Amino acid sequence: MTTLALYSNKGGVGKTAAAVNLSYLAAQAGSRTLICDLDPQSSATYYFRVKPKLKSGAKQFIKGGKQVDKSIKGTDYDNLDLLPADFSHRKLDVTFNELKRSKHRLTRILDPLKNKYDLIILDCPVTISILAENIFNAVDYTLVPLIPTTLSVRTHRQLLSFCKKNKYDVSNIYSFFSMVDKRKKMHRELMAAVLNEFKGILQSAIPYLSQIERMGIQREPVAAFLPKSVASKSYQNLWQNIRETILSKTTI
Ligand SMILES: Nc1ncnc2c1ncn2[C@@H]1O[C@H](COP(=O)(O)OP(=O)(O)OP(=O)(O)O)[C@@H](O)[C@H]1O
Ligand SMILES: [Mg+2]
Repeated sequence: MTTLALYSNKGGVGKTAAAVNLSYLAAQAGSRTLICDLDPQSSATYYFRVKPKLKSGAKQFIKGGKQVDKSIKGTDYDNLDLLPADFSHRKLDVTFNELKRSKHRLTRILDPLKNKYDLIILDCPVTISILAENIFNAVDYTLVPLIPTTLSVRTHRQLLSFCKKNKYDVSNIYSFFSMVDKRKKMHRELMAAVLNEFKGILQSAIPYLSQIERMGIQREPVAAFLPKSVASKSYQNLWQNIRETILSKTTI
């Protein structure tokens, strides 16, 4: 079993779009998959047409334990379950901070779910505080969408330096280019510079495509409603790339 976080300390970079499509593709390929929506915006929950509410209650979620199971919903797709977000997730940072072993609370929440799934994907909100540390402690790998822009690259540098300083294993952090527009010279130049500067950049990139924006209207993974599209093929390639590069040592 593998846990994978779609994470960035920058907003609007394509975390949710990737989490939703990758979890769908993994499930389609036969892996028992759970997507956990940790973002109070509840976008992943919305895409899967589920109500953003935890049946077990926010307090039980924070405590962890088997009760969290009760909040898990099926989706319209085989092998794919969703742990919905709840608006109370906006307080996760503050609440974790007040508890003992504050950086390992998410590990406790996810551990009882691990025997039911082959893959757990977390859709994370923007954070670089205690919630981020909970995420790094809870997952096997962190996957960061990187838009080839100056600010996005600068934020990635900040993340890696934070992780090194706090002794998180940066070799478990991978990135892929997101929202790429190869017609832009700056995108092409920055991609080359990034490949030069950072390790763990996956080969597959997700282009900037309006097909992906349509997920908000369809409320489905683009890989489900336009399976033969360029967008769908891009996520398929990314998933293949993740399997070969990152997950090849695990059972999935
Ligand atoms: N490759 C893409 N091409 C075009 N639009 C995209 C692409 N990826 C995502 N989008 C759109 O950009 C917006 C932000 O994407 P998304 O919600 O996936 O980012 P995010 O990193 O999860 O954002 P947040 O930090 O708010 O959680 C959405 O409207 C989405 O439809
Ligand atoms: Mg998001």
